[in-house]
Amino acid sequence: MKRIAVLASGRGSNFQALIDRIADGYIPAECVRLITDNPEAYAVERARAAGILVTVVAYPAYPDKQSYEAALLSAMEGCNADLFVLAGYMRILGETIVRRFSGRMINIHPALLPSFSGLHAQRQAIAYGAKVSGCTVHFVDEGMDTGPIIIQRCVPVFERDDEEMLAGRILVEEHAALPEAVRLFCEDRLMIKGRVVCILPP
Ligand code: GAR
Repeated sequence: MKRIAVLASGRGSNFQALIDRIADGYIPAECVRLITDNPEAYAVERARAAGILVTVVAYPAYPDKQSYEAALLSAMEGCNADLFVLAGYMRILGETIVRRFSGRMINIHPALLPSFSGLHAQRQAIAYGAKVSGCTVHFVDEGMDTGPIIIQRCVPVFERDDEEMLAGRILVEEHAALPEAVRLFCEDRLMIKGRVVCILPP
């Protein structure tokens, strides 16, 4: 059984989707830790309710980015996890952490990458006039939202959409895509070949 740890900064609905899909047996894993940079995050409540240990590594508690990253790295090492899932973790991770967990750290992004990377992806899609958007689950590399893609799911963008409407439509797909990607990882069915992630049969 794989051990997964989740990093989240806020609401934690994607974290909850993982908790639920582990509980119902879809994902063959144990969630061993929530790491958050935000002690106020609702994700913390969700962890407590599910009996998952929480580690807070709060950015303002450290004098600079380097010492924050060192603390985060040691918190991550302490999890003994096979997989780290960034589920609404809103900070860019430094190179040391990305390299250390290369091939075993994944992120969910609310757009069809490589379009609309970075912050406010849903707002970007609307402003650009895109007719479809969606979500992407990808391995994390040194770039911002540039790593090898595991799964994408699409939604339509309507002319009357505001950011919140589109975000809600995408979120439904996120809650399916992230558990699916985590399940594939836990079943050892993901093989990274350069930029391409091959999904192996069961
Ligand atoms: C999700 O839409 C996720 O894709 C996005 O933040 C939201 C977190 O929601 N992540 C990013 O924008 C990362 N750049 P949640 O806390 O309810 O899972």
